[in-house]
Amino acid sequence: MQKITIAIDGYSSTGKSTVAKQLADHLGYVYVDSGAMYRAVTLYAMQKGIISKKHFDVEKLKKSLSEIHLKFHKEAAWNKAHIFLNGKDVEDKIRNLEVSEFVSPIATIHEVRAKLVAQQQQMGLEKGVVMDGRDIGTVVFPRAELKIFMNASAEERAQRRYKELLARGEKIHLDEVLKNIQERDHIDTTRADSPLLQAKDAIVIDNSEMNLQDQFHTVLQLAKDRI
Ligand code: C5P
Repeated sequence: MQKITIAIDGYSSTGKSTVAKQLADHLGYVYVDSGAMYRAVTLYAMQKGIISKKHFDVEKLKKSLSEIHLKFHKEAAWNKAHIFLNGKDVEDKIRNLEVSEFVSPIATIHEVRAKLVAQQQQMGLEKGVVMDGRDIGTVVFPRAELKIFMNASAEERAQRRYKELLARGEKIHLDEVLKNIQERDHIDTTRADSPLLQAKDAIVIDNSEMNLQDQFHTVLQLAKDRI
């Protein structure tokens, strides 16, 4: 059976990664969470004091890029590949609200995007990949056989993300999560380099009222039609 490339883009917390992962598992494809890569670069910048609430040293970040090495590792014990930053598993450190607050400003930097996009394209060379993010169907894989653009209302997305963070033991308020989602949406859609936008040939799925099973079956059918 021929393998295809599947690009899933959309706003923050639309559930892209859940569907992308289910689909990849079902098809025996590689799943790549491109947001994890931007988050790992952000974690590096936080650890090195390059970004904080008070300052952001863009030039230092650009100079440090050659020292940042990202890799995904998959082990049977985990249900998802973990991201490693310079040899260390940082999967548990990149999902908190602090990283979420700094990640979108970091993702506006052209040099950061160029580095990560090159690595993402390398990972997709042999097809058989499901990648989710903001620019996958527009920039990373403009020739992907299947492009999905996922959306849901900001309130619905905030609710889902809030529950996820609570389950991970974070002490947060729903309004902080909603504010972060709205700020990231704004930065992601208005940045100069590869803003989040729907590819012309993308299929839009608004999942505000859909359960996970419905979303999975919809996307699976779209993939099967193209394989
Ligand atoms: O997907 P996730 O919400 O984890 O992504 C975190 C942030 O990384 C996004 O808000 C966006 O700023 C950035 N990102 C991006 N391009 C991608 C994936 C993520 O700019 N392909």
